[in-house]
Amino acid sequence: MRVFSGIQPTGQIHIGNYLGAIKHWVELQENHECVFCIVDLHSLTIPFDPSALQKRILETAITHLAVGINPEKAILFVQSRIKEHTELTWLLNTICPIGELGRMTQYKEKSRQFKKNINAGLLNYPILMAADILLYQTDIVPIGKDQKQHLELTKTIAKKFNQKFKQTFKIPQAQIPKIGAKIMALNDPKKKMSKSVPQSCLFLFDEPQEIKKKIMSAITDTGKIIKFDPAKKPGISNLLTIYSLFDNQPIEELEKHFKDKGYAEFKKSLAKILINSLEPFRRKRKELLSREIYVREILNQGAKRAQVIAKSVIVNVRKKMGLT
Ligand code: AMP
Ligand code: TRP
Repeated sequence: MRVFSGIQPTGQIHIGNYLGAIKHWVELQENHECVFCIVDLHSLTIPFDPSALQKRILETAITHLAVGINPEKAILFVQSRIKEHTELTWLLNTICPIGELGRMTQYKEKSRQFKKNINAGLLNYPILMAADILLYQTDIVPIGKDQKQHLELTKTIAKKFNQKFKQTFKIPQAQIPKIGAKIMALNDPKKKMSKSVPQSCLFLFDEPQEIKKKIMSAITDTGKIIKFDPAKKPGISNLLTIYSLFDNQPIEELEKHFKDKGYAEFKKSLAKILINSLEPFRRKRKELLSREIYVREILNQGAKRAQVIAKSVIVNVRKKMGLT
């Protein structure tokens, strides 16, 4: 079974990215053929600084290695290095219904957020994502909940292509975690934690002081009871989810344990758990920061391996569409 997933090099990785996606990539690499992609082309659809892009890409690669992606087991590569992604995007463009694109939640949100830069790439973003996935004949796509809609569109495109040009693509399945698929913002638990809103995030490599500060000032709900109720108590429910996932304890146990205790005590304990759980990641990252050549070599090797798969698939697609 082949696994494919991607992440944008748009900023630091936060615990939502980790719990919703990357943590599962680390598990999947043990017994699946995994392909993980740093999607730099996707990141061009929102305002960015060209002179900082290479650094961002390298930092994203270091993050993956620091949390446990093993380059001997998984392929890790940069999207723009493999030209077939853009070629397949164009070909899929010609069969993707426009109406579907305008309905995508992420497109609507991003065009609201970046009113002065509503470019065609933002609209066509899901087609590039479909190309990423289909180019590797992917079986499983581990993602957070926010990407579910894009995956549905990928399936629609794949089925349409197969109908029109004969069986070509595998139909991929999303793998969305039952708990942690949507970690909410620390500063506003009704919205998702998002890289493009830094105040909303607890980053994987935040230093202990920062972690403590962010958790202690995370927005919680009125009342004192520590109870999981996302509709009525989104703030404390989000923190309970985070606690439960990092400490490997069911939420009910945590509710019992903190029954007669206040928010402050709960938060203090959560901060401690996070400081300890994230410590190995911080350490590994610091070590990798001084090994840039090694990290670049991993990306080079990853691209070579990805290229082999991408090429064989695009040759078939060209043939099916009558281009060769
Ligand atoms: P992005 O930061 O948009 O590149 O997302 C990378 C991966 O992290 C995708 O699989 C997303 O679904 C996942 N993700 C992003 N934000 C969250 C969040 N707040 N909670 C859970 N998963 C998330
Ligand atoms: N759109 C995804 C996100 O923002 C990133 C992504 C690009 C992706 N291509 C992908 C995820 C292919 C899974 C598979 O999170």
